[in-house]
Amino acid sequence: MAQINHHFQKLKAGYLFPEIARRVNAFADAHADAEVIKMGIGDVTEPLPAAIVQAMHVAVDEMGSRDTFRGYGPEQGYEFLRTAIVEGSYAGMGIAADEVFVSDGSKCDSGNILDIFGIGNRIAITDPVYPVYVDTNVMAGNTGDANAQGKYDGLLYLPVTEENNFVPEIPDQEVDLIYLCYPNNPTGTVVGKEVLQQWVEYARSHGAIILYDAAYEAFITEEGIPHSIYEIEGAHSCAIEFRSFSKNAGFTGTRCGFTVVPKQLMGIDDAGKEVSIHALWNRRQATKFNGVSYPVQAGAAAAYGQQGKAEIAELVAFYLKNAQLLKQGLESLGIRVFGGVNAPYVWLKTPGGASSWEFFDLLLEKTHLVGTPGSGFGAAGEGYFRLSAFNSRANIEESVERLKKFLQ
Ligand code: MLT
Repeated sequence: MAQINHHFQKLKAGYLFPEIARRVNAFADAHADAEVIKMGIGDVTEPLPAAIVQAMHVAVDEMGSRDTFRGYGPEQGYEFLRTAIVEGSYAGMGIAADEVFVSDGSKCDSGNILDIFGIGNRIAITDPVYPVYVDTNVMAGNTGDANAQGKYDGLLYLPVTEENNFVPEIPDQEVDLIYLCYPNNPTGTVVGKEVLQQWVEYARSHGAIILYDAAYEAFITEEGIPHSIYEIEGAHSCAIEFRSFSKNAGFTGTRCGFTVVPKQLMGIDDAGKEVSIHALWNRRQATKFNGVSYPVQAGAAAAYGQQGKAEIAELVAFYLKNAQLLKQGLESLGIRVFGGVNAPYVWLKTPGGASSWEFFDLLLEKTHLVGTPGSGFGAAGEGYFRLSAFNSRANIEESVERLKKFLQ
């Protein structure tokens, strides 16, 4: 019989968000008239900006005409989009268009990237963390089993909690791959340039690579907060950056993101020889990926046009206002709240010392509100809870009312 990848058997039963959906569906089945408001998974609710829709319509029409029809596109993405990305997101940062790889999303890329790294790398992740980083390392065989707390042998967990102001400490041991995500999912917190500079210095002096997830970059409102790891000197030789059109431009269902792999970035082979990471990723994409559809890339490029930029700014401001309403509502109840200023996530301390899952159940039962238990993102997330600001204004206002009624 066919052997399975036995590393999958080390995974916890379900991926966090489907597990939440399962519990919510069970609740909804048992309480048919409950008006459940979902603030669990960070999925956008507002329609695509008009400039993007228009660009997609035009592209679809092109596909319907013999003269303008396109078949396979470049696996790395169309030149027009790679150039728009560099000019719109990396101006003055020394990134070239052929260092940008367009893809169907940063979740996929942050998992797929492990294809090009060997077994035996020492891996550091923050705790709590976006679960994809952990689970894909488990699948790739980079970890041992999980302990009772759900922590996997072989991963170095860097706690990020109120105690250290949500800033992970630089490891006092050797690691080879470091996952960082800013603005952070799940805590909604950010770090300044000095913190990232320290990580870049660590990575450069240890030959490590930083896998930098900047999917929420558009939500940064405060001055001086880096939008890209490449704002940091030296990062081009030690960092890969993942970005997404999902959260800023509403592409969660449409699917488009990109990964930046600078040509300077090197890894090492079994013989100790330096190998270009860019060349490996290019090889991987050319073999396993056929690019994002032309209409979707045309839509993504419109995100960088004048109208697109203005509409996206409005969309981002809308979700940030939701975050502010949630944050203020919770704070008025005496709850400690983090994030929500430079990110669409509000990270709160569970009231009354409830565990994350206890609070999840209680909130669902009593208020019909859904959030994400902090412990689902890692052991250090225990006692915290995440609310997503991706929702309609009416739902956010209703949620704040329900929270007030329940917790006052
Ligand atoms: C989240 O809720 O953490 C994210 O939306 C999930 C994702 O982007 O994959």
